[in-house]
Amino acid sequence: MTSLWPAPESATPEQEPAYSGAPAPRVTVRDIAAAKWRGEKWAMLTAYDAMTASVFDQAGIPVILVGDTMGDNHLGYDSTVPVTLEEVVFLASAVVRGTRRALIVGDLPFGSYQRDPGQALRSAMRLVKEAGVGAVKLEGGERSAPQIELMVGAGIPVMAHIGLTPQSVNTLGHRVQGRGETAARQLLQDARAVRKAGAFAVVLEAVPGALAAEVTADLDIPTVGIGAGPDCDAQVLVWTDAAGMTEGRAPRFVKRYGDIRQSLGDVARAYAEDVVTGAFPAPEHTYA
Ligand code: KIV
Repeated sequence: MTSLWPAPESATPEQEPAYSGAPAPRVTVRDIAAAKWRGEKWAMLTAYDAMTASVFDQAGIPVILVGDTMGDNHLGYDSTVPVTLEEVVFLASAVVRGTRRALIVGDLPFGSYQRDPGQALRSAMRLVKEAGVGAVKLEGGERSAPQIELMVGAGIPVMAHIGLTPQSVNTLGHRVQGRGETAARQLLQDARAVRKAGAFAVVLEAVPGALAAEVTADLDIPTVGIGAGPDCDAQVLVWTDAAGMTEGRAPRFVKRYGDIRQSLGDVARAYAEDVVTGAFPAPEHTYA
């Protein structure tokens, strides 16, 4: 498996922590930049709680996104739109506590950055100071460039997100973006604008594969694809989609690597059956 960090036993002297007993360092945006130069692909997953995040961290996922997809995957909302900054700060702090190595990216939710760059900086500061994330993400290309510039200038690494931007569901819907010459030109322009503003990576969501390949070749920062084909530098999936926890039909771009929903249901049914029949607790589960 490709990993942005070496296994502890293969760490070189330069990779040893400067202070003995200091925890191993987390993945940084410098590691992400170096991976692009090496042509090394990497995987990002979302997480919304400490325990799930710890599983991904221990599996070697180098970047974990506390996405506003917590809205429709974890908090029971219909979309990402109702998610508040307080909710992201709360869940992101749990993800940070549950992990040791991954770079944790906190999503700026709808309404927390659109008004002006100052609002974006205040929101990002909360995610960095209160939750302890190493970077933030926001949606929008050219329109979000002033926000990105101010946050990066203040020392906060920013991941951009263009193409299909779910916070704009009420105007864009859930359609593939960048189809046709004008839309493709706009997408490239958006990608260049966020790069120029200082973003360290850019998510491309629901974009034709050929266009994502063109953007990836054009930029010197990594593209992180979701429904954007195989030529992006990295890929991201919502963990509940990847693990088969989400109910119903998944979008075309999702690959299911497990059937956690079925497994969890099996656990619940077997446990309930044991309780009803008296098979649980057995003597070995009972204190003398
Ligand atoms: O919020 C999120 O999980 C995201 C990913 C789908 C990229 O933005």
